[in-house]
Amino acid sequence: MTQASAPGKIILFGEHAVVYGQPAIAAPVTQVRATAEVENAAHAGVLLRAPDLREETWLAAAAEDHPLGAAVRAFEAVAGPVAHLTATVTSTIPIASGLGSGAAIAACLIRALARHLGREDLATDAAVSTMTFEVEKRHHGTPSGIDNTVVSYEQPVYFRRAFGAQPSILSTLTVGRPLYCLIANTGVIALTKESVGDVRRQWLAEPERFETLFARCGQIAQQARAAIERGDQALLGQLMGENHAVLQAMTVSSAELDRLVTAALAAGALGAKMSGGGRGGNMIALVDETCEADVREALTAAGATSVLETLVAAS
Ligand code: PMV
Repeated sequence: MTQASAPGKIILFGEHAVVYGQPAIAAPVTQVRATAEVENAAHAGVLLRAPDLREETWLAAAAEDHPLGAAVRAFEAVAGPVAHLTATVTSTIPIASGLGSGAAIAACLIRALARHLGREDLATDAAVSTMTFEVEKRHHGTPSGIDNTVVSYEQPVYFRRAFGAQPSILSTLTVGRPLYCLIANTGVIALTKESVGDVRRQWLAEPERFETLFARCGQIAQQARAAIERGDQALLGQLMGENHAVLQAMTVSSAELDRLVTAALAAGALGAKMSGGGRGGNMIALVDETCEADVREALTAAGATSVLETLVAAS
């Protein structure tokens, strides 16, 4: 039996604009994880098991967009057909809430398959990320590639996708001073594919205005990278607020997200913003030891259905 796991992720800066070639910053959330186990089996096919969802299906019968089926098929597309296996995936990452659950499930399963079948060349971070990207495309249409990158490398990253003639950039971040973040869930399930599609429609209708908004997110991400490297948390907090305002202008925030952001700031957070696709899902608040308890309480009082914490530090 071979096991592999992958963390959740949060986007600190640059969501949505990253789809249009602007840089973004994301970090793993190691408190929540997806874990895959692959074992040899007497049966001829591949049995996919998701005990959390009380679900079992054969690969041959799995729909095109089945999360486990899509991951195995992405692996097969590179490694050739697999058989006589049982693959079991469990996860503590909340689904459809901007924590990268889909990417983590695919990444851990692909890595477990590669290791189990002795394909160490396909178990590297880069190979796992590339195959996971293929799965993300199936689920999200036009993903930027940031989710698969963070969950496969399991490090804070500064990421820019290739766009037009512009080459991609992927660099791990030095973290001057660890960032202590609270991640609060609105409890509203929102599909990233829909908010990404909506931004696209608005961009096509008003290209100049949206390109200005995207460029502003890119500048914020660049300034944030320098602030993270220097450990300048006051500036980072301010940049989070500016990024949230631009995301509001793109219409991807929501009343619930705005309420949590306002509550966190009123309770003393250094900064707060929505994170990920938006319209629901999660927001993040930058805190320190002095305000952490107050911010957590304020988030719960303002309707957060869960509050996770994560420490963003260089690994
Ligand atoms: O909702 P999440 O955390 O999966 O993030 C989506 C991030 C977007 O920038 C909105 C889309 C993307 O593919 O990068």
